[in-house]
Amino acid sequence: MPARTCLTIVLAAGEGTRMRASRPKVLHAIGGRTLLAHVLLAVRDIGGDAAVVIAPGQERVAEAAREILPQAAVFVQSERRGTAHAVLAARAAIERGADDILIVFADTPLITPQTLARLRAPLAQGRAVAVLGFRPADPGGYGRLVTQGGQLLAIREEKDASAAERAITLCNAGLMALKGDNALAILDRIRDDNAKHEFYLTDAVEIAHKSGLSAVALETEEDEVRGINSQGQLAEAEAVLQRRLRNAALEAGVSMVAPDTVFLAADTKLGKDVVIEPYVVFGPGVVVEDGVVIHSFSHLEGAHVGRGTSIGPYARLRPGARVGANVRLGNFVEVKEADIGDGVRLAHLSYVGDASVGAGALIGAGTITCNYDGREKHRTEIGENAFIGSNSALVAPVRVGDGAYVGTGSVVTDDVPAGALALGRGRQVIKEGWASRLRNMTSAGKKKSD
Ligand code: UD1
Ligand code: MG
Repeated sequence: MPARTCLTIVLAAGEGTRMRASRPKVLHAIGGRTLLAHVLLAVRDIGGDAAVVIAPGQERVAEAAREILPQAAVFVQSERRGTAHAVLAARAAIERGADDILIVFADTPLITPQTLARLRAPLAQGRAVAVLGFRPADPGGYGRLVTQGGQLLAIREEKDASAAERAITLCNAGLMALKGDNALAILDRIRDDNAKHEFYLTDAVEIAHKSGLSAVALETEEDEVRGINSQGQLAEAEAVLQRRLRNAALEAGVSMVAPDTVFLAADTKLGKDVVIEPYVVFGPGVVVEDGVVIHSFSHLEGAHVGRGTSIGPYARLRPGARVGANVRLGNFVEVKEADIGDGVRLAHLSYVGDASVGAGALIGAGTITCNYDGREKHRTEIGENAFIGSNSALVAPVRVGDGAYVGTGSVVTDDVPAGALALGRGRQVIKEGWASRLRNMTSAGKKKSD
């Protein structure tokens, strides 16, 4: 039998007023990835076509969607008149006639591709509608699933529900699968004759049932279908995601003595035999190779860390930090947009930005690459096995050749040839007996005034 075709409609027209933030709700992030991106990645995983429904003027949401699913069709819901109205904004996509139509909410980011696939399965067995249900700790505000003998008869929105219906604990997660050949006929029959005067997608169930079609409810965990409408709910979803990410890392053999204090990003990649000490934060785009130790209080983002390297404590790797193998990158070291070669020692109190450091180089404590002249950024290049004495300032653009030495405390403004020594500091002056004379003078003065 040929595989069934699928169209997934992602509703992203949420106002998000309860977020009290200037950015659109679905562009808030958990695990360093936007809510929209989480959902679209799950959608991409199951394959097929995708349509994203946005509110007017939310071009940023459309752009963010295209970054992940360049082929996705974007539709604008002209006014907010309910979930069925939003789905029908994508009518042109539905008319193309997929076997299965999946409807997901962009503010429900923890949904897995496995559950999306599970939701489609009843359609292949002839059901017209499948709905995802869950049993929330507090059902207040959710639609209730009215079932009888394995059939789903209706979904009742809380505002329209009778007391008996409100007592039902199985609630609507909001995700729905519709058989493509019935979908438009059902959606077009939905009316806004309810408490909120909205076109409820949930009415699709009762309409299907009354036309002799069959609907079914599947169940999942509350944690997978948490919808986000406020900063508090965003933080709760973050906690669920962090638990998932930490467990997956532990499962894969990463050592963390205090996993609850480690914050991972959804795309963090950790190799074998990696040790992460307490209180480490990963922003997006970090790859850590085998045998790396990340000591406490380090912050990594957009960085690559090579095998056997040791990071921190208190290190900061910013985007574009590419750290080689067996590097010692220690406390209060910040690296940005820089290649740090294999075996480099960069152990204390340094800033290395817009730079390359050759293999085996030693960068003394307090070394700073002065990359910014107030208008533009410039590069610093340090050769292999170079030695940069402590407390040196390398004023970019500047090059230090292979095996060269820079004397401690130098301000290096000119290129240093390979194998040379550069000294860029004031010469030391000795004044014999000066301190003793000062001491004698002050003690004589003190006696007089006694
Ligand atoms: C909806 C369900 C409810 C379910 C709950 C789960 C309906 C009528 N109700 O209620 O049964 O228990 O989700 O969280 O579907 N949206 C638009 N355009 C609109 C209206 C909504 O794009 O005109 C989008 C929203 O951005 C959101 C989603 O649809 O992503 C759900 O809308 P929301 O208003 O949050 O519905 P609920 O009242 O939570
Ligand atoms: Mg909602």
